[in-house]
Amino acid sequence: MPALHHLLSIESLDAGQIEDFLQLGMRLKAARQHSRNPLPLRGQTWALIFGKSSTRTRVSFEVGIQELGGTSLFLGMHDIQLGRGETVEDTAQVLSRYIHGVVIRTYAQADVETFARVGSIPVINALTDEEHPCQILADLMTWAECLAGSKRPIKKITRLFSGKTVVFFGDADCNVARSWLFAADKLGFNLRLAAPKDYRPNGALLNRARATRASFFDDPVKAAAGAHLLYTDTWVSMGKEKEENKRLRKLAPFQINNRVVQAAKPGALVMHCLPAYRGQEITADVFEKHAQTIFDQAENRLHLQKAVLNRLAK
Ligand code: CP
Ligand code: NVA
Repeated sequence: MPALHHLLSIESLDAGQIEDFLQLGMRLKAARQHSRNPLPLRGQTWALIFGKSSTRTRVSFEVGIQELGGTSLFLGMHDIQLGRGETVEDTAQVLSRYIHGVVIRTYAQADVETFARVGSIPVINALTDEEHPCQILADLMTWAECLAGSKRPIKKITRLFSGKTVVFFGDADCNVARSWLFAADKLGFNLRLAAPKDYRPNGALLNRARATRASFFDDPVKAAAGAHLLYTDTWVSMGKEKEENKRLRKLAPFQINNRVVQAAKPGALVMHCLPAYRGQEITADVFEKHAQTIFDQAENRLHLQKAVLNRLAK
């Protein structure tokens, strides 16, 4: 398995690396109640540079870093000179001399890639406009737990997904949907995108993802037919607030509601990365029926990200 220095995207991972993160995430989850766990970040300081809001990602990284023996340093993008126009390159050079790793939430994927190229410390993408790799890895962990039931350990987690069908509803060109797209071909599951034409990934992205397992649907009920997992995300991603009215209108037919759930395979999972806007991308009653899975997704961010920190720490 090639050594990993950063977690920048699902696109840049292979199936073996995903398997390793899921295995370690599950082991760390099981071990959390024991007091004597290894502390691979002992003596290390990791910075979180965030240019967008966050509840789950910020808190789960800060707690995870602390549980692994490290110290976290939260840097709002606009509190440091980066927010006033200092370059990513200079920021990367300077911070690499102080800290041991960095977790970045921002707009341009190019910025996390540049930081990783110019700096000399591990970089974790905590969400860009292009990808949300930590989210999708935690979602895969949650899905695997549901598929495996109480059976532990799972010999090959990623094999569980093979041949299954996931449907993404709503803005199928957002960061979370794109990360699902890259995961589908690597792990051998089918991905249906139920979205209006203007909210689908373009041809170049489909080529990059070698998206042979992706298909597009105008009809959300047809998309859901026989599916194993229904997934949605907010219709108005961070940075798209000016388009809110248009998005709410255009994406309204792609809500996860009872009609859509009834078309799926009996017992199908419903997932949401959160934050949720009940009555928009998902109805309140469907959300409440599937709240256990959805909050497990949120919890698994912590365990999975601890696995990532373990693997990247120098
Ligand atoms: N799902 C997720 O990344 O949530 P936050 O925006 O709260 O971090
Ligand atoms: N697509 C959403 C994900 C939030 C976790 C956004 O970018 O706002």
